[in-house]
Amino acid sequence: MNTLLQALILFLVSMLQLCYSKPPNIVFIVADDLGWNDVGWRNEQVLTPNLDKLAREGVILNSSYVQPVCTPSRNAFLTGYFPFHTGLQHFVIFPPQPYGLPLKFTLLPERLRKLGYDTHMVGKWHLGFCKWEYTPTYRGFDTFLGYYNGEEHYFSHDYTYQNKKGFDLRNNTKPLREATGDYSAVPERYKDLYPAVKTQARRTYLAMVSALDEAVGNITDTLKKYGYMDDTLIVFTTDNGGPVNWGANNWPLRGAKVTLWEGGTKASAFVHGPMLKKRGYTNTGL
Ligand SMILES: *[C@@H]1O[C@H](CO)[C@@H](O)[C@H](O)[C@H]1NC(C)=O
Ligand SMILES: *[C@@H]1O[C@H](CO)[C@@H](O)[C@H](O)[C@H]1NC(C)=O
Ligand SMILES: *[C@@H]1O[C@H](CO)[C@@H](O)[C@H](O)[C@H]1NC(C)=O
Repeated sequence: MNTLLQALILFLVSMLQLCYSKPPNIVFIVADDLGWNDVGWRNEQVLTPNLDKLAREGVILNSSYVQPVCTPSRNAFLTGYFPFHTGLQHFVIFPPQPYGLPLKFTLLPERLRKLGYDTHMVGKWHLGFCKWEYTPTYRGFDTFLGYYNGEEHYFSHDYTYQNKKGFDLRNNTKPLREATGDYSAVPERYKDLYPAVKTQARRTYLAMVSALDEAVGNITDTLKKYGYMDDTLIVFTTDNGGPVNWGANNWPLRGAKVTLWEGGTKASAFVHGPMLKKRGYTNTGL
């Protein structure tokens, strides 16, 4: 009886805590095409000090699986469904294809909005844009700064597909023409970090990984500066395994992006935040 009462009280107290504790800020970072062996916490050749620090302070997810290409994975992050439930299991969406993530699915930002969150997205969408209803600001994001397709030229922000070129960088729904010529990150000076890397593709790729790392450092510096860091959950993951033809590396895993081997599906990923009960370890569970 006593135990039952104690259990009941404990249950009520935890329900009250759930109801009244302020929900954390959530920063969900998807690094496009980042390989298993392309992060400093696994491969010391890769210079990612900011990511390494977050990964080591948080929980490294050592068995976190994704889909082998972008659209299906991004679909899963935002709906919680495997792509064969949403019709996005086939491949990625190409510019002239008139479809997207079906409108009957409610996306994560729509659910977060109902809980009182402000929702913002920066970067690549790749879940359809054939009608406005399929685009990020119609699907739960208050603001969007990025591109609708799967890739863009880093300087011109064009995407050329079957000899047709289109500008693809938007501020909410408006083309952001004034950004033409700006690199969406800053890789040149990072190439100098890798003098020993002889393969050009690998050197450029690693430079971009280090630029990404600096961008993440800028984000966490800003979170710290404004006092949000103690109340922020950071989730970091790739969307698929690394494309080795573009300089990525998934060693010792077999295969790469687009394949169903672990090199295509086992993600470099971690979670970070003071609200995690157990931190500073590698989680090997699925
Ligand atoms: C993490 O995954 C890699 C690749 O599958 C494996 O070699 C390693 O043993 C795993 N680490 C742990 C701690 O299970
Ligand atoms: C995007 O548009 C908003 C609202 O018009 C503006 O405040 C913001 O500065 C713009 N962002 C960029 C990067 O131009
Ligand atoms: C990080 O912030 C610094 C200082 O504002 C800036 O010069 C640099 O370009 C930023 N890096 C990236 C990758 O955005």
